[in-house]
Amino acid sequence: MKTETTIQGLNAALAPARIARKTIGFVATMGNLHQGHLNLVREAKKLCDLVVVSIFVNPIQFGPNEDFDNYPRTLEADSHLLADVGCDVLFAPTIQQMYGDHERKTTVSVHGITDILCGQSRPGHFDGVATVVTKLFNIVQPNTAFFGQKDWQQLAIIRAMTRDLNFSIDIVGVPITRAEDGLALSSRNAYLTAEQRQTAPVIYQALTTAQQQLQQHTDLQQVLAQIDLTLVNAGFVVDYVKAYTPDLLPVTQFDQDIVLFIAAKLGSTRLIDNLLVKFSD
Ligand code: PAF
Repeated sequence: MKTETTIQGLNAALAPARIARKTIGFVATMGNLHQGHLNLVREAKKLCDLVVVSIFVNPIQFGPNEDFDNYPRTLEADSHLLADVGCDVLFAPTIQQMYGDHERKTTVSVHGITDILCGQSRPGHFDGVATVVTKLFNIVQPNTAFFGQKDWQQLAIIRAMTRDLNFSIDIVGVPITRAEDGLALSSRNAYLTAEQRQTAPVIYQALTTAQQQLQQHTDLQQVLAQIDLTLVNAGFVVDYVKAYTPDLLPVTQFDQDIVLFIAAKLGSTRLIDNLLVKFSD
């Protein structure tokens, strides 16, 4: 595996593949990799000739009181894990390499679906994500990019942006990787105390119970209220419990596919999860 820290170096590393018209798969990450990320790389390996993974803790997607400074930076361990799963090129740029010294005058904003769910409690977050992903798409120029369904809203935003800005990139959503007890894998799980880690799977249990209730035609608002109560009783501070269509539109019909979304805090750790409830075949 090659590791490149500059755009120039990355271009040189990818030049032979581009000339040979090999397909390039891309996985964007902020590092501190777990099996969820590695499954994105495995999926990319299946579908593409060559896989590029970026590790970049993107400052502009963190709010002033968020965990940018403390975000775990584990480049050496990450690069071993990536080499083991067959990543071809690791792109690990510095902030200076990505944003330069000049004042940034361009922000990519996706409208309509960025001010709901996580966008409500993290203002500006998705502008930061859309801007860095646009830059990474332009730098890597992949044929296919792979994103986890754990960040369903992020995936929907990237799909909309890719379509609106005419990127010739296929976006593949990869199912959530869960621990045996159902907790969705996330770099932020590392912040949980042992006790909180025991409680955390309640999120997934609440989602699966809700899925069953909805499939038995229990009223949606009642199901959402029940999830909220379950989380509060387990000691979470709930940010939101919501349902939208897979494209993040309001649910209007009672037999359409919906996604249940949860964001809730255990202590100072904010966890998110979601579950697709299918009514169509
Ligand atoms: O999902 C993430 O880790 C980040 O939001 C991403 C897509 C790498 C952009 O910084």
